[in-house]
Amino acid sequence: MTTYISASILGADLLHLAEECDRLKANNVDMLHFDVMDGQFVNNISFGLPVLEKLSRYTDIFKDVHLMISDPLKYIPDFVRAGSDMITFHVESNSDADQVIEAIKNSGVKCGISVKPGTPVETVYRYLDRVDMVLIMTVEPGFGGQGFIPETAEKIRTLRKYITDNNISIDIEVDGGINEKTVSVVREAGANVLVSGSYLFNASSMADAVVSLK
Ligand code: DX5
Ligand code: ZN
Repeated sequence: MTTYISASILGADLLHLAEECDRLKANNVDMLHFDVMDGQFVNNISFGLPVLEKLSRYTDIFKDVHLMISDPLKYIPDFVRAGSDMITFHVESNSDADQVIEAIKNSGVKCGISVKPGTPVETVYRYLDRVDMVLIMTVEPGFGGQGFIPETAEKIRTLRKYITDNNISIDIEVDGGINEKTVSVVREAGANVLVSGSYLFNASSMADAVVSLK
């Protein structure tokens, strides 16, 4: 199983995003994780479409867009146009999950579905035949720099076993508190797409940090 690293630019130097993108490319980071928060689904507001558009014009790195917004269905066409390569939405959002998946897949981009720490992973089983990835949040969504919630490892393990037993080929992404210590827990449990924000961008050597995660 290939492991991919997705760098959450919430942890980047936002005054110098272009240089931060160059650093990701130079250090073999696989994806750019773009956290969108609307102040309703989560208690924080991050950045949105105009920033993603600019980034897409600047760099061809894979854009892994994480929508922490109440009504993802309404904004799928905009996020596709802005250059998303994959769009992940929350099963807990107010939109109808079947319709969101259809909108994303019909646009030709990859689709992920996410669960917050308190949501049972079984909630997404009925969508697994249509999505490319499940994102298991390993912190409460809303802020970077939080501590990994150990109880989430069991959900990763449960999902990995379920998709293996049922011959389903999708990725399992984890997001929140991933660093050189917690990485072994999530990898052993079966995650293969690892989001990292503060650990990657604050490391004295991003190259070494990437190696420690892979
Ligand atoms: C949290 C975000 C994460 C966050 C991860 O709501 O979805 O992507 O930026 O940051 P770290 O790696 O610092 O926990
Ligand atoms: Zn995220």
